[in-house]
Amino acid sequence: MCGIVGYIGRRDATPVLIQGLKRLEYRGYDSFGIATVGSAIEVYKKMGRISDGEAGVVGLHGCTGIGHTRWATHGEPSDINAHPHTDCTERIAVVHNGVIENYSELKRQLQARGHTFRSETDTEVIVHLIEERYDGDLLAAVNATLPLLEGSYAILAIAEDTQRIVAARDASPLVLGVGDAEIFAASDMTPLLEYTERVIYLEDGDVADITSDRLNIFHGGRKVERPVELISWCVEDTRKGGFAHYMLKEIFEQPQSFYETIRAGIEDHVQQMVTEAGEITLVACGTSYHTALIFKYLAEALCNVPVRVEMGSEFKYFTPPLHGLVIAVSQSGETADTIAALKMAKARNCPTLAITNVMGSTVTRVADKTLIMRAGPEIGVAATKSYTAQLAALMQILNVRREGAFDDILSHAHLAISEVLLREIKEAVNLCSKAEHVFFVGRGAFYPVSMEGALKMKEISYVHAEGYAAGELKHGPFALLTEETPVVAICTPGPTYSVMASNIKEMKARKAPVIGLGVEGDKELAEIVDIFIPIPNTHLLVQVLTASVALQLLAYHTACALQRDVDKPRNLAKSVTVE
Ligand code: F6R
Repeated sequence: MCGIVGYIGRRDATPVLIQGLKRLEYRGYDSFGIATVGSAIEVYKKMGRISDGEAGVVGLHGCTGIGHTRWATHGEPSDINAHPHTDCTERIAVVHNGVIENYSELKRQLQARGHTFRSETDTEVIVHLIEERYDGDLLAAVNATLPLLEGSYAILAIAEDTQRIVAARDASPLVLGVGDAEIFAASDMTPLLEYTERVIYLEDGDVADITSDRLNIFHGGRKVERPVELISWCVEDTRKGGFAHYMLKEIFEQPQSFYETIRAGIEDHVQQMVTEAGEITLVACGTSYHTALIFKYLAEALCNVPVRVEMGSEFKYFTPPLHGLVIAVSQSGETADTIAALKMAKARNCPTLAITNVMGSTVTRVADKTLIMRAGPEIGVAATKSYTAQLAALMQILNVRREGAFDDILSHAHLAISEVLLREIKEAVNLCSKAEHVFFVGRGAFYPVSMEGALKMKEISYVHAEGYAAGELKHGPFALLTEETPVVAICTPGPTYSVMASNIKEMKARKAPVIGLGVEGDKELAEIVDIFIPIPNTHLLVQVLTASVALQLLAYHTACALQRDVDKPRNLAKSVTVE
């Protein structure tokens, strides 16, 4: 979703801001803009891609500036609604991520006091409120404005004749990069990687007063110290490295990211927490919700521990009775619904654990303890390597509970993932790219794997796909089966093998072409399906991984065959920071 960058230092701010915004493109956006302050405030903003509009920024001056990529919430995508927004006198400019929930009321009051609004955004109220309180001291004006805002925000503000940025956050991420006589600000660390490895994560309620050689952070009006931390990611991690798309690169990085996450292990205090849990509730959204569901099946079967899984978006309004450990699973660590659920679990005194890819992200600040997965930056909007790294983290929890029973399996799983990356799936891609609808079915842990396969397919190829528990298909969806509706069925050895094989025959009897995922050498399955995709014949834990990777490849190549914008699917944002 929206992205923020800020720069103050000795360089020309414009190229730093544009480069930073390009690094944030992966979050999803529909317009962009920057404002610089030489002496006056200069603004350029435009609807559309940065690469199409960046030529317009040449006239901007100054070594201090702020920038923004907007993902429309209040007001359609347009040049006018793009950030930065300026006050009536155009002396102050603001960029904002988040949502100001009481903006209608504030706007009405501001208009009654004579302010002229140019945009339909909620953000614009902020800059007019600052304007009313500004007498040359930007920090004081921002401080006086913040208590009036309800909702979530990460804000950067600049004012004319002042080489200063005032930054504030509440429930929306903001990180500062500390350079040599220069400071960067951004909504995540990707724009900072090429300039510095030293970062400061602002806390909710922090306000930072930034000049090129001075950084003061305040909380509740008092000056506070926040630690400078070192980032472990590097700028190379954010490049495509010769792959056609980030998504393909990230799919191919999975053997390494899975292995790294296993190798990093689980700290003793987290081990103790997960071992002691009598009951576990996981909260998550989207792909992370699917990894949580897979964990439920595996944990109940292999560890005999009761697990419930809740969608972050439902949890806040329909909170279940909670007992025991609550785990929030989130690649970005910034998903608003997951964070809200985590906060509610804390309010009910449950011990909480965050599993995330992003050190310093909001979930790590809210949860009692954190388990970091080692996927590295994920730039493609569709989650791939973060999904398998989440599974690595969750499978380690199973391993801890089973006192190392899966050590050997987990430390070799990356080899099986590497094997699947080389599978030939052209025929299956051909079938799916011609279809309007595709079903994905499995049983047990392969049911959520199917849901994930369907999610990947629909989000990047725009082919309508549904993930179903195989036995449920005949309770309704069978009506949709025709020779033009492929079914991708996961059928591996185990207690459900023969019932899955019967289900596949029933689908075939309705003329649906079936793509079967099964273990290598399974001649019986290969004979009943139309297209057979083999995965290595290994432990259930590894089959879950390899089947998932095969489905990622199916979605990826189908999307390429349909010439979709694989890394930036329409209407989607990488990090969903609003409810
Ligand atoms: C799909 C995808 C999303 C995310 C979801 C939660 O490919 O990436 O469904 O999984 O938005 O995001 P995180 O894991 O960052 O909380």
